[in-house]
Amino acid sequence: MFHKALTDIFPDPPTDLDPEALDEARVPEHIAVIMDGNGRWAKKRALNRLRGHKAGIEAVRETIRCASDAGVRYLTVYAFSTENWKRPDDEVVGLMNLFAKTMLAEVDGLDEENVRVRTIGDLSLLPEDTRAAFGRAWDQTCGNTGMTLNVAVNYGSREEIMRAVRAVADAAVAAAGRGEARDVTPELFERGLYTAGIPDPDLVIRTSGEHRISNFLLWQVAYAEFYVTDVLWPDFDRYELLRALLDFQHRDRRFGGVR
Ligand code: FPP
Repeated sequence: MFHKALTDIFPDPPTDLDPEALDEARVPEHIAVIMDGNGRWAKKRALNRLRGHKAGIEAVRETIRCASDAGVRYLTVYAFSTENWKRPDDEVVGLMNLFAKTMLAEVDGLDEENVRVRTIGDLSLLPEDTRAAFGRAWDQTCGNTGMTLNVAVNYGSREEIMRAVRAVADAAVAAAGRGEARDVTPELFERGLYTAGIPDPDLVIRTSGEHRISNFLLWQVAYAEFYVTDVLWPDFDRYELLRALLDFQHRDRRFGGVR
């Protein structure tokens, strides 16, 4: 369900885009976004990489607002992967500070928009103030009933899958040999994933032209539609999201069956 008139969500569309073509009934329930290209955006402007990440915040803000207004129920953004620790120290520290600052600055606005802010990933390795900022955002917004924003931080899908496997194995050990391997169902396995209780993504958007999944939601994207755009993340805005939504609505989703 749209939460605003299309003319308010998309007030100034480029001439090649018609917001009215958006079908309210076919808005994806869950969109996952690989926000790529901040470094290249900065390099093109002879700025340091952190400036690219800072510019990316505005794109995150606009994507959240627009997705929520368009009736998306879950939006998952890949903010920091388990592999991103390999980046130079100043970039890692800068990103952690940026997450903390952004969360504290945005939480009231997100709360007003009825957005629920949660994280997926292993937060135990984060600096204390960054972890606290995400914790505070969850505490303040967990009762909200609008869109859920999942921020993937120190998230890696292989790590997540191993974690779920270990949870299943632990449960088997606790059952003292009374269970059988066939008792391990997909539903049981999914309870050990960070995304437990969240429907699988319908649409994965990746910016900056790379056709890679980069250890993101490997189990969950089994039947997701992929949309890759050459636009660099800081240049992504509501109209780029509209392009992705319209493209998605033309896909013929068969989930392995026939129509
Ligand atoms: C990838 O671009 C981007 C990241 C690893 C960081 C993305 C984080 C943000 C936009 C901030 C989000 C903040 C919150 C609180 C949700 P890249 O550096 O890999 O770009 P490149 O491929 O051009 O080098």
